[in-house]
Amino acid sequence: METNKTFTMIKPDAVGNGYTGAILDHIIKGGFKITALKFIWLSTEKAGQFYEVHKARPFYNDLVAFMTSGPIVAAILEKDNAVEDFRKLIGATDPTKAEPGTIRNLFAKSIDANAIHGSDSDENAAIEGNFFFSAFERF
Ligand code: RTP
Ligand code: MG
Repeated sequence: METNKTFTMIKPDAVGNGYTGAILDHIIKGGFKITALKFIWLSTEKAGQFYEVHKARPFYNDLVAFMTSGPIVAAILEKDNAVEDFRKLIGATDPTKAEPGTIRNLFAKSIDANAIHGSDSDENAAIEGNFFFSAFERF
């Protein structure tokens, strides 16, 4: 299993607020190399599939509705120890608990509209990257 890749989405709140450029800059300055990138609007079907693991959770419907409320930016990122280091860079799920200087601390408003996604394991990083990108779209 590769340990040098993670997958991210800049969520509709952050894209809508005009933070895409600032967040990509933060990611690059954090030592991550962008190896795939796209700007897309998820369908309900696609967002539902992506968050299938949370299907039984009370917040699932709201999460899918939020993630389809506007376009997102998806990317594959490379760095040693990518998954763990990227979770540190984005901060806690609830932005009020995110460390100062983290992406969620700087750019997120609430636990629902929390600006950015980061994979939670090497296995999920591979699954999520493959869900969004074909071999021709990554370098
Ligand atoms: P993400 O997958 O988006 O990177 O977020 P995460 O790992 O920090 O959090 P996760 O547990 O995977 O939850 C996915 C998204 O669901 C929303 N959520 N709401 N109301 C709640 O208690 C609650 N818990 C999670 C968040 O928007 C979270 O990012
Ligand atoms: Mg998660």
